[in-house]
Amino acid sequence: MKRILATGGLGFVGSHTCLSLLYQGYKIIVIDSLINSSFEIYQKLKKINEVLNLELNNKFTFIKGDIRNSALIENIFQEASMKDQPINSVIHFAGLKSVNQSILNPLQYWDSNVIGTINLLKTMRNNQCFNIVFSSSATVYKPKLNRMLDENSDLGPMNPYGMTKLTNEKILEDIFKSDPNKWSISLLRYFNPVGAHSSGSLGELPIGMPNNLFPILMKVALGELDFLSIYGKDWPTKDGTCIRDFIHVMDLAEAHIAALKFLIDNRPQNIALNIGTGKGTSVLEIIKTFQEVNGICFPYHFVKRRMGDQPFLVADNKLALSLLDWIPTRNIVDMCADSVKNLI
Ligand code: NAD
Ligand code: UD1
Repeated sequence: MKRILATGGLGFVGSHTCLSLLYQGYKIIVIDSLINSSFEIYQKLKKINEVLNLELNNKFTFIKGDIRNSALIENIFQEASMKDQPINSVIHFAGLKSVNQSILNPLQYWDSNVIGTINLLKTMRNNQCFNIVFSSSATVYKPKLNRMLDENSDLGPMNPYGMTKLTNEKILEDIFKSDPNKWSISLLRYFNPVGAHSSGSLGELPIGMPNNLFPILMKVALGELDFLSIYGKDWPTKDGTCIRDFIHVMDLAEAHIAALKFLIDNRPQNIALNIGTGKGTSVLEIIKTFQEVNGICFPYHFVKRRMGDQPFLVADNKLALSLLDWIPTRNIVDMCADSVKNLI
């Protein structure tokens, strides 16, 4: 089996996807700068494989580095070829993802997310590697009140982070058009990935103070924060709080493998796919479920709306369901239960 390069493979989505890939016998090289993850995740992934009695020797390599470092990326491709195991596909998770930070420091976001991607794509082309699954986001869509978003919905990100994702999509579209028989590209537009591997051995471990709901819920559950602030109770939704399409990170991980298989079996290809469950859950509903499922009670209060939030973000996931050998199987109870297992 050929090798896969996973950029940002020690992050939240990347690490869970690597676990699924290793489980299915793929050989992976991870490059990660560790700007939002740690070497401990690599050790954890190796340990889970030992516990499962999976033979890892030579199947899982980690290289600490930045995707903007051209020489390093070139070297990774060359070395894999010299060992007679060329990289034939890339799953490109690496990127910065805080909306707030992207507003405060747009240059850092354009540099890391877009320059990094251009660099990676040049090296892929130089090394005859033309299969790529790209981590895009539902944030590329223009908000649409109470209507599910399909892949043809209007695009229109509202912040620099979203613009970098859309720009990467456009770059990928352009390189596909420039040589339509060569590239096989899948843009996975994730909705709200949450949860963790059910073993409790992995989870979401961002560096610093998180902005996203689940990492904050975890801090409240651990007692590191006294209460949860809910952003707005006057949204035009059933209970006044925002509605999101939460998807279990292991379902998302499996979607990457299904997308990779689809790309390779149906090349050339350039396709955008919504990766969500198609079910909307309000912030209040998910908080109540989290408390019930985990037997934890903590205070929450309402504060004013967060700038840039949208009331309703739910995927029409029919295209992914019809094209990929994939279906999300975990519900919000699983998401809430699994997310705290690695804290116990
Ligand atoms: P994450 O921050 O946990 O993982 C990203 C990883 O990339 C981290 O390990 C980080 O250290 C690494 N990284 C960042 N910049 C790098 C660079 N220049 N070179 C090398 N490594 C670098 O994020 P995640 O939640 O796992 O998200 C993965 C991808 O999916 C990101 O591109 C993100 O924008 C996108 N995405 C995430 C969500 C979400 O809610 N988690 C939603 C939509 C899209
Ligand atoms: C956010 C980003 C999105 C990005 C995604 C992954 C914004 C506006 N959107 O999505 O672009 O792709 O993260 O990084 O930042 N909430 C609270 N209290 C909290 C935290 C969140 O009420 O302490 C609410 C939010 O208002 C939102 C919901 O929970 O309605 C989910 O928030 P979050 O987890 O940050 O994800 P998104 O905003 O959907």
